[in-house]
Amino acid sequence: MKTKRFSDAMEQALNKQMTREAFQAQVYLSYASWAEVNSFSGIANFLYKHMHEEREHMFKILKFINDRGGEAKIEAIDAPAENPKNIEDCLKKTLQHEIDNSQEIDKLVNQAFEEKDWATFSFTQWFVKEQIEEETLINDLLDKYNLASKQKDGNANYYELDKDLNKAPQSAEIPREEEF
Ligand code: FEO
Repeated sequence: MKTKRFSDAMEQALNKQMTREAFQAQVYLSYASWAEVNSFSGIANFLYKHMHEEREHMFKILKFINDRGGEAKIEAIDAPAENPKNIEDCLKKTLQHEIDNSQEIDKLVNQAFEEKDWATFSFTQWFVKEQIEEETLINDLLDKYNLASKQKDGNANYYELDKDLNKAPQSAEIPREEEF
C-alpha cells in the first residue's frame, strides 16, 4: 500500500475528472456512430479515433491517482446528450464539450496551486496543453466547415470536408482498423 501523496479533496477532484474524461469518450463515440449512420465515414473515423484519445486521458488520470497512493474509483458515466442535427451542430457541440472540459481542467490546476500540490500541478499541465491543441483542432475543422458550406455547388464540398476530417491528426488509432 503506497503512502498517499495528495489530499483527500484532490483525490476526489482527480477521480471526478477521470470520470469526466470517460464521459468525453462517450460523447465522441455517440457522435461517431451518428456520423457513420449518416454516411460521413471520414468524420466518423475522426470521432472514433478521438474517442480513444479521451479514453487515454481517463487512463492517464487513473494511473496518476493510483501511483500517488490514492484509489481510482470507477463510476457510472453520464449518457451523452442527443445526437447532433447536422455536421455543423456536431462540430459546434464537440467544441463546446472541449471548452467545458478545459474549464474542469482549470479547476484542477487552481486546486493544485491552492494546495501547493506541485506534483499534481505539474501533472495537470499536460492536460492544459492538450486542451489547447484539441480546441484548436476543432476550431480549425469548424473553419473548414464554414468555408465548405459557403459555396453552393452541391455536396462536393462536404465530400472534401469529410476527407479532410479523415486525415486530421490524432495520436490514437482505431484498434483493429485492419478488420474493418
Ligand atoms: Fe480529454 Fe478532449 O478532453
